[in-house]
Amino acid sequence: MTVLHTPVLSAEILDWLRIRPEGTYADATVGTGGHILEIAKRLTTGRVLGLDRDPRALQIARERLGPHERQVILVHVEFSKIGEVAAANQLPPFDGIIADLGISSLELDSPERGFSFRWAGPLDMRMNPDNPLTADEIVNQWPEKELADLLYQNAEERDSRRIARAIVRARPIRDTEHLATVVAGGRKARGRQRLHPATKTFLALRTAVNREEEELGQFLSRTPATLNLGGRLIVLSYHSLEDRVVKHAFQRLSHEGFRILTKKVIQPGDAEIASNPRARSAKLRVIERVATAETRFDGERTAPQVC
Ligand SMILES: C[S@@+](CC[C@H](N)C(=O)[O-])C[C@H]1O[C@@H](n2cnc3c(N)ncnc32)[C@H](O)[C@@H]1O
Repeated sequence: MTVLHTPVLSAEILDWLRIRPEGTYADATVGTGGHILEIAKRLTTGRVLGLDRDPRALQIARERLGPHERQVILVHVEFSKIGEVAAANQLPPFDGIIADLGISSLELDSPERGFSFRWAGPLDMRMNPDNPLTADEIVNQWPEKELADLLYQNAEERDSRRIARAIVRARPIRDTEHLATVVAGGRKARGRQRLHPATKTFLALRTAVNREEEELGQFLSRTPATLNLGGRLIVLSYHSLEDRVVKHAFQRLSHEGFRILTKKVIQPGDAEIASNPRARSAKLRVIERVATAETRFDGERTAPQVC
């Protein structure tokens, strides 16, 4: 059975996008196609570019988007390359771009992908199977100090050193279930916790394997230049470090010809969280381009940015 990801804050995203039927849009993280399908349905002569680095997700999205194939271009690529892909497809500047960060339910709920501590699966965690680095290499080969630094820096894991020590002692770690048991044993006992003891370790490994911080940084610095005047960039993030990066990038852009539209971050309401608990940590931020590259800095003329 195909696992479809339930799109988060879908109605809000469509409101912020204010889709024009003849406009040009991009979905930087197509997943199994929930958000992009709603965009495609609203287009007539307009186009929507969809990107994802997971070929399996794109395949499912492609099937779902069949009836709208004239409006949709799907590309298997990292979203940091959005500018190059838009140029290669001769698309005009975007009227709206969404990036729904993190992983899809398709990835999380496929034990053989190794993203979850709920089942025994290989230590993989690659969104893109062409990626050379796997979680296995980090877990079974990295020096203890590098492992501890990773857990602390990528997931703010307070017990990073204890966990890294436990992992190194237990090597070779066979699979995700074995890793989760070792991590739980390595952490300090703190009574009943809301999160599974291995949650942060798995987050740190996933973000490292997929170079998520670098990808997001490059996306946020390159994508604004691809927006049309009045075009909007909508980013949905799922953990505090990621949201902080988005917030700071938007603050910087607010001095460079963009306006922040979400002074207060948007989060799902109780009803959405009750029907889709995975939406609970979502945070949505939106900016709009209010000046062209030529007029951005107090009327000073600058060359249009090449992306
Ligand atoms: C939360 S899901 C998106 C779900 C989608 N909005 C939907 O409605 O089905 C995130 C998706 O982004 C993809 N992804 C994450 N980082 C990426 C990157 N740097 N480049 C391209 N795709 C990425 C993942 O493979 C995953 O399919």
